[in-house]
Amino acid sequence: MEGPRVAVIGATGAVGEVFLRIVEERSFPFSQLRLCATERSAGKMLTVRGKEYTVETTTPELFDNVDIAFISATTEASKHYGPIAAERGALVIDDSSAFRMNPQVPLVVPEVNGDDLEHHRGIVAIPNCSTTPLVMVLKPLSETNPIRRVIADTYQSVSGTGSAAVAELREQVGQVLNNEPIRSSVYPNQIAFNVFPHIDSFQENGYTKEEMKMVQETRKILHLPELPVSATCVRVPVNISHSEAVHIEFERPIEPATVREILSKCPGVKVLDDPATDVYPMPIKAEGTDDVLVGRIRKDLSHPNGIALWLSCDNLRKGAALNAIQIAEEVLRRKLLPRQGKVMAWQS
Ligand code: A2P
Repeated sequence: MEGPRVAVIGATGAVGEVFLRIVEERSFPFSQLRLCATERSAGKMLTVRGKEYTVETTTPELFDNVDIAFISATTEASKHYGPIAAERGALVIDDSSAFRMNPQVPLVVPEVNGDDLEHHRGIVAIPNCSTTPLVMVLKPLSETNPIRRVIADTYQSVSGTGSAAVAELREQVGQVLNNEPIRSSVYPNQIAFNVFPHIDSFQENGYTKEEMKMVQETRKILHLPELPVSATCVRVPVNISHSEAVHIEFERPIEPATVREILSKCPGVKVLDDPATDVYPMPIKAEGTDDVLVGRIRKDLSHPNGIALWLSCDNLRKGAALNAIQIAEEVLRRKLLPRQGKVMAWQS
């Protein structure tokens, strides 16, 4: 069979599972598929395109015979295996925060900055699952009217934390309904019937790491290193799909109708904006779909050049697995695999 030799590190996880379904849906080409995780999952069977694969323990040697390694495991696993895989000749497409701000590493959303792939050195990072939908909206608007400031407040689902968090929400819902004591092990607080403004660790400046990821990654992807961005990231008791309330200040005034028109022409973005008939994005509408859903587009009353909008996006698909596969498709289209000889070597 034609296609690259592919390894998926984290194949048994929340993103890994969706990744394998998208490989099937998009008929992503591969000549060999290795599904990897920790020793805990070794021996487990997973089916892809009707064929059964045995999950393997991840090892350094594995990458000698791999052209593309998708890593969606833990940040520690990425830090460990990312450089090893790149040094052994694989292209790493990494879903963690380990390399996103490394100047050697392009941070890519193909619709926004696919050209950045040309400079990769063996590792490409995908953005945080809240950054991706934000830049999908900001980029096309900024081409019409430069953006001066962005405020994004998120409503992030539990699947962004992984399958253990999805299980914790489910268990806690049962505990609340049955009047039982609430047990939290994944999160610092009860997530069932609650929300909390705490994703990742708190930093010295009072923001969380997740919020600072949105600030720094947005600037890097848009090539606007000074862009003022502020975020508040909130965990909500939703299984899949992140939402965001976004306030954008432009250089000049812009009409909501213009924003709707621009966004409705963007691949990967779908405008759902008819409040009169209760049509607007919601996590349950975004779940299982590929588009960033955008609605509630209106003038921001607090600024003459401001627009307020609301978006929802499946964090496991465009926020993670789909974006990773689209990067791989773009790399293949541009013939940028390390073993094809065009890219510079990774330097740890
Ligand atoms: P395992 O199933 O063996 O624990 P989630 O995001 O849903 O928590 O899933 C995390 C995924 O990453 C799982 O597939 C998990 O494997 C995998 N994983 C975690 N740590 C490592 C590691 N050090 N090396 C390889 N895979 C890892």
